[in-house]
Amino acid sequence: MPKLVIIYGTGSHNTERIAKAIEEGAKAEGIETILKNVSFAEKNQLIDADAIAIGSPNYRDAMMPSVQKFLNELADVDLAGKIGLAFGSYGWGLEAIQAISKQLTSYGVDMIKDLGIKRMPGDEELEICRRVGSLLACKINNKEVKCAA
Ligand SMILES: Cc1cc2nc3c(=O)[nH]c(=O)nc-3n(C[C@H](O)[C@H](O)[C@H](O)COP(=O)(O)O)c2cc1C
Repeated sequence: MPKLVIIYGTGSHNTERIAKAIEEGAKAEGIETILKNVSFAEKNQLIDADAIAIGSPNYRDAMMPSVQKFLNELADVDLAGKIGLAFGSYGWGLEAIQAISKQLTSYGVDMIKDLGIKRMPGDEELEICRRVGSLLACKINNKEVKCAA
């Protein structure tokens, strides 16, 4: 079964809310998902993933140190060709998401989108996150087909 692994850090649960909505969107399309707070994530869980979504809030113009540490540990996992998404909540800047995207790109991940949501996601934002989850599922299922954003 096609698989999406979602790993996130969060301080006050906003990025967690985004992660859960992405999972809902992907699950609705019949994709198997693993959702983990980075504190409980293991890099081996990514080995057989078709797509990986990594999220962090923006704190002091950067991603959370726990997410940075996890990303660094992925250097010796073969992620080339997997589909990727960087996401997170922020107050006024997108540095964390951009840095996640850059690092995953350097590992050969095919990044589809940067999903930044300002502060706590409301109903409208959560719907956007679900749609991005569906988009990830579509990309996994039909690698060659154009998916609606
Ligand atoms: C100590 C602190 C530092 C922050 N620094 C930044 C920052 O540098 N840039 C930014 O865009 N937002 C910053 N924020 C806002 C957070 O990114 C925002 O509150 C976000 O929703 C937190 O997500 P979380 O609930 O997943 O932890 C900061 C918030 C706190 C409490």
